[in-house]
Amino acid sequence: MKKAVIIVHSKTGITRMYAEEIEEYLQGKEIEVVSVSIRDYRNGLCGDADYLLLGCWTSGLMFFMQHPDKEWKTFASHFEDASGTKTMMFTTYKILTGSMFRTMTKLLAGKTNPPSAFLKSRNGTLSENDKSILDSFCQ
Ligand SMILES: Cc1cc2nc3c(=O)[nH]c(=O)nc-3n(C[C@H](O)[C@H](O)[C@H](O)COP(=O)(O)O)c2cc1C
Repeated sequence: MKKAVIIVHSKTGITRMYAEEIEEYLQGKEIEVVSVSIRDYRNGLCGDADYLLLGCWTSGLMFFMQHPDKEWKTFASHFEDASGTKTMMFTTYKILTGSMFRTMTKLLAGKTNPPSAFLKSRNGTLSENDKSILDSFCQ
């Protein structure tokens, strides 16, 4: 059985809900899922994972300068080496994700594989397009 680790950071719950939808969808594909918040995450959890999914809400100036918040940046600075694991990123936002994924990728450079897929949602629900992105990611 393949194993996915989802690590999520949410301020008001929308990204958490998105993570839950992703978790449910992957479980429906017979993938074992471990889902934790960045606060509960401990190094070692990704050791035997096949897939790593990293999520954070989009912070910025709405139309530009998007980035993960300070807490996620701290998480990233302590994150273990998970460079053997296929990685994707997800976020929720209101207007634009802009530089969000670029910044997340940069902050984890050398510690994860370059992400091979990205998911984003305004309301935290998993769209049909998101599902096909997950299908390709987990092949
Ligand atoms: C301080 C702050 C900055 C934000 N900056 C952006 C932004 O630059 N672009 C955007 O589309 N949404 C922005 N948002 C909206 C959030 O990304 C959005 O509401 C997100 O879904 C919240 O996720 P959460 O419920 O998991 O915390 C911002 C929200 C806050 C509170």
